[in-house]
This record gives sequence, C-alpha cells and structure tokens, in this order.
Amino acid sequence: MTTQVKKICCLGAGYVGGPTCAVIAHKCPHIQVTIVDLNETRINAWNSDNLPIYEPGLDKIVFDRRGKNLFFTTEVDKAINEADLIFVSVNTPTKKAGMGAGYAADLAYIESATRQIAEVARSSKIVVEKSTVPCRTAESMRTILEANSHDDIRFDILSNPEFLAEGTAINDLLYPDRVLIGGLQTPEGFKAQQALAEIYEQWVPKDKIITTNLWSSELSKLAANALLAQRISSINALSAICEATGADIDEVAYACGRDSRIGPKFLKASVGFGGSCFQKDILNLVYLSEQLNLPEVAAYWKQVVDLNEYQKKRFVSRIIKTLFNTITNKRIAVLGFAFKKDTGDTRESAAITLCKDFIQENARIYIYDPKVSEQQIFYDLSGPEVTYDIKDLKKRVTIVQSAYEASANADAIVVATEWDEFKELDFERIYKSMNKPAFIFDGRLILDAEKLKSIGFRVHTIGRAN
Ligand code: NAD
Ligand code: UGA
Repeated sequence: MTTQVKKICCLGAGYVGGPTCAVIAHKCPHIQVTIVDLNETRINAWNSDNLPIYEPGLDKIVFDRRGKNLFFTTEVDKAINEADLIFVSVNTPTKKAGMGAGYAADLAYIESATRQIAEVARSSKIVVEKSTVPCRTAESMRTILEANSHDDIRFDILSNPEFLAEGTAINDLLYPDRVLIGGLQTPEGFKAQQALAEIYEQWVPKDKIITTNLWSSELSKLAANALLAQRISSINALSAICEATGADIDEVAYACGRDSRIGPKFLKASVGFGGSCFQKDILNLVYLSEQLNLPEVAAYWKQVVDLNEYQKKRFVSRIIKTLFNTITNKRIAVLGFAFKKDTGDTRESAAITLCKDFIQENARIYIYDPKVSEQQIFYDLSGPEVTYDIKDLKKRVTIVQSAYEASANADAIVVATEWDEFKELDFERIYKSMNKPAFIFDGRLILDAEKLKSIGFRVHTIGRAN
C-alpha cells in the first residue's frame, strides 16, 4: 500500500515553487496544495491579480485553481502540519562569505526550512527536496529531521529536482522530458518514491518518471545544468573563432547540430548565458569537485563560467572598439534587460554586466525591456561593486517604454535579450532617428543583418566577422 497524498505544502513561493505547485493543483483537483513563503509581499502578490512572476500561461492556471485547491499563505506552521508531503523549494544562492564563498551553495534557507518542519510537524511527512542542492544534502536534512522530530513520527526524504526553464515553465511542467525522483533504497524509501510518482502520473507518462537513488538524483540536477551551460560556452567559444575567420556561428551550429549525436538545442551563440542557476550550479559543482580533491574536474567545469565572463567582456570591447575607441557621453540603446525572453527575471542577466561596463565608460544608456520594471533595473545596476552612486547612475541611465524611444538620437543599439518584438521593429524609422553612423550590435543573433545593412546600419553580430 502506498501513501495517498491528499495535502501538499510547498515552502517557497518563488519561480519554482509557484509554477510547479500551481500545475500540480491544476492536474490534481483532489489534492489541496498550499504554497507558503516568509515574504509577505510575495504571498500578497500571488493572491492578487498581478502575480509576482511573469510566465506565459501561469495566470490562467493560478486564477482557475486559487481558492479551490490552491492556496498562498504566510501561515507556514499550519501548512506544514496539515500536509502529507512537503516540497522544499527555497532559494539556494551562492555563498557570499565564509567557507566556500563565491562557489558553495548557501544552504541556510534549506536548513532553517528543515528545522521548521521538524519543529512543527506532528504527523509523518514525505519531505521533498525541490531546490537545487549539493550532492548529499538530503543526508543532512534527514539528520536534522530525525534529531528534532516529536512523537516518533517518520520523515521520508526524496530528491525531486526541477528542470523547468523560465519563460517556458508551464509547458515544461505540463510536458516534461522526464521527472526525476531520488529516494533511499529501502522499502520506506521506495514507498515514498511511489507516493510522489503517483502525483506526477496524473499527467506525465509513466515511462518519463525516473526513479534513482538520492545522490544520483541530486547530482543529476547539477550535471544537467552544467552540461547545458557547457554547450553554450562551447558555441560561444566557437563564435570568437568565427568573428576572426569569417565563418558564421549560426551556420556552424546548424551544421554541427544536424548530427543526431550532437542535436540542435542549446547551440545558439549569445552575449553569454544568464539566469539564477547555471553559474550558481556550476560553481557548486566546482566546489564539490574541490572538496572531493578532484582539482582537474573542478578546473574543467570552472572554465564554462570563465568563458561566459569572457564572452560578455569580448562583446563590450568589440562595441567600444567599433565606436572609435570611446563611448564617453555616447548614447547607447540597450534592448532587453531580462536574462532571456518571456521572463521578467534579471538574475545574472548578461545585460547587467554590459550596462555596468557602459556606465563605467561614461556612456549614457537608454534601456527598454517589455517586462522588467525601472525599479528592478536600478536595483541591479547599483550593486556593491560599482563605483558610482544612485544619483550619478540616474544621470547615466534612463529607462524608457519602447525600443523606438530608446533608439532615438542613439549612437548605437545593443540587443541584449532576444525578445520577439525586437525582430518586428520598424528599422527604417529607427535608422532615421539615430545619430550617424548608426550602429547595431546584435548580442542574440536575432536581426536580419543584410536588411539592416541595406537600410544603412553598420551591423555587428556575435559570431560573424561583420
Ligand atoms: P526564489 O528566490 O524565486 O524563491 C525562493 C523563495 O523561498 C523566496 O520567495 C523565499 O522568500 C522563500 N523562502 C526562503 N526560506 C523560506 C522558508 N524557510 N519558508 C518559506 N519560504 C522560504 O527561488 P527560485 O528561483 O524559485 O529557486 C528555488 C530553488 O529551485 C533554487 O534551489 C533553484 O536553484 C532551483 N531551481 C530554480 C529554477 C528557476 O528557473 N528559477 C529552475 C530549477 C530549479
Ligand atoms: C535553465 C535550464 O534550462 C533548466 O532546465 C533548469 O531547470 C534551470 O536552468 C534551473 O535550474 O534554474 P533557465 O536558466 O530558466 O533554465 O533558462 P535557459 O533557457 O536554460 O537559458 C539560460 C541562459 O542561457 C539564458 O540567458 C539564455 O539566453 C542562454 N542561452 C540558452 C543561450 O545563450 N543559448 C542557448 O542556446 C540557450
């Protein structure tokens, strides 16, 4: 007999907890799903018409299930107590200080969530790691839970990493390539795996639900992100060779991707990958390798991140060199600020690095992004490592409401995010409104360079000689 899950609690109402559990509520109307967070503003937003994250298709699902079998609340203890199964979906950022700073994952949120579960729970629970964590974190969670539990209750720990990508989260959750469930290889562990599998089986074909041991599951998440990011760094490394030789990176990616052993996905050259996870998870893997006394392995993965930094810097220096070696007081239109299209998330966005470098060079930048707020952009550009204060920043940076406004009187346009709307712009109109010579730097390879050249633009694209 497996445990039938009737109530789920999710700790962490973020980019993962929110969409993942909303989809569970949508597909399992017989299960009550309660998503909790310590951040009251975030919970209020989840309960409003204006959800805290932008994700195509998310509104519809949330508005449909909210108040029926989907709830958002800050009453963490109550939700823990009522649940049969608890997802831990809190943030696991890179540590900023102390041992492993700059590499290791900060597990403080995981630990405090685990302690809270142990303290509050009065009945047995299946506790599921949803957050991305270093290999063997489940062991620490189990030790904490067992050492602090009351009344002989049982905790079964599972690892169920999330593979959704932002911008396509709902589709990824509805039609996942696979669902991974790691558990202890004991009768109780198998039973817990089965209980979680039965939830996913409501909409995911059985053959896509993979069960493994706990440590394989934890490591597979870091490995999948490392392998994906490695492909991007590989194609970006090749883009530098293309620029120097006259080869075209899109053609190279297409030719290589047609080999079924390589495949076409994740071979789009760019100004560099961003997002909250690739860099964090690779650094986490680097740290793990070092801890395991595997310095060569650590160096191998570290290079994926180093190449990404190099790609961003390379793009900035190409822009400065092309603009006659100075961008002081030049007006630069930055199109896009999110780390990819179809999200308002800016975490580790390449646009942040570009803009900070432009500001350090005393350029005046005009930024347009369809989904990122002005407040968020100023927050991102005023990080601790910058040497200007917010007043100076506002003299250098203007946030505008359209690509046309950003481009008017600009010396150059820089495409930092691949929003579809940038492909549809009226470039004749933009050209007329710009200073001449009018430059476009396409950091996402989304524009028709030949057409732009025929209008009069000087076009520079990543991975092309010109
Ligand atoms: P997030 O920062 O958007 O959300 C985490 C939330 O957890 C925050 O709102 C925070 O207030 C809350 N929280 C922290 N401690 C808590 C506690 N004790 N009780 C209740 N709430 C608490 O983070 P995210 O992007 O959703 O990522 C969460 C995890 O999922 C990370 O480990 C990340 O690596 C992983 N992940 C993220 C993505 C993604 O696309 N963002 C995809 C796959 C996996
Ligand atoms: C990534 C993974 O794709 C998810 O499977 C994973 O669950 C998630 O990280 C996570 O663990 O957080 P995400 O970062 O949301 O998802 O988005 P991606 O589509 O992977 O894009 C990441 C970055 O790489 C973006 O900046 C994107 O523009 C860039 N990218 C992507 C490229 O430059 N080229 C490509 O071919 C693909």
